[in-house]
Amino acid sequence: MLKSTLIKATEAGAKELQRFFNGNFKISNKEGFNNLVTEADYASEKVIIETIKTTYPDHFILSEEAGEVEMDSEYKWIIDPIDGTVNFANGIPICCISIGLEHKGKMIMGAVYNPIMGEFFFAEKGYGATLNDKKISVSSNTEVAKSCLVTGFPYTYLDMPNGPLQVFERLIRKGIPVRRLGSAALDLCWVAAGRFDAFYEHSLNAWDSAAGFLIVEAAGGMVTDFAGNYYSPYQPHIVASNGKLHHQLLDVINNRIQL
Ligand code: IPD
Ligand code: CA
Ligand code: CA
Repeated sequence: MLKSTLIKATEAGAKELQRFFNGNFKISNKEGFNNLVTEADYASEKVIIETIKTTYPDHFILSEEAGEVEMDSEYKWIIDPIDGTVNFANGIPICCISIGLEHKGKMIMGAVYNPIMGEFFFAEKGYGATLNDKKISVSSNTEVAKSCLVTGFPYTYLDMPNGPLQVFERLIRKGIPVRRLGSAALDLCWVAAGRFDAFYEHSLNAWDSAAGFLIVEAAGGMVTDFAGNYYSPYQPHIVASNGKLHHQLLDVINNRIQL
């Protein structure tokens, strides 16, 4: 029932993305420059929350635009109604719905669906990860120097030592391909599918990563913060990898080794 509700909610949100994609829709600005929210974000969020509440009216919900619907429940649904909103607003087909489900503080299920590219990623703790119902697994590359990476940048730049541009610069100066897709949830799923060896970012919210981090783990990967601690979606830093080059990448991110 939890799984079918998760899938139903994700598909309901996806219909809204498909309805609005490349059409005319209202776009407004949130705090920060170019931090957008569209009519499609609200429409997607509305049907997702309605779908969950129809079956589970007592569950806790945390959703990017609506905020928290606090409930005294062991279950918490963590929703990004569109991850990759700037892409979506520009007709770039790298965007998705991301929904993670937590039970007693542990992520147990996640779905990330890019309906424009027809890619549905899913994981249930202990049962592996799938893309369109086919099992996926992380890459086998063991060296950062030979890796293909992906990252993202926050809407408001983080001026800090060893910030996003410094880490990016170190990798790029060594000729390492570091892509920027513009959707953290898909960045994670593409690591899970073995397309990227690793993803890192300095500032994420729980709704960006809740589903995707479980999908990476279920596909055999590793997800931590920058210090190498077990990942929590309630803090900003993330490193998600195939596991084999994880510690080397942590050393590079923390500027402990030169490549
Ligand atoms: C953003 C995307 C982007 C990441 C940002 C997120 P949004 O989410 O995931 O890739 O770099 O940190 O805020 O605004 O498209 O839902
Ligand atoms: Ca997001
Ligand atoms: Ca969003």
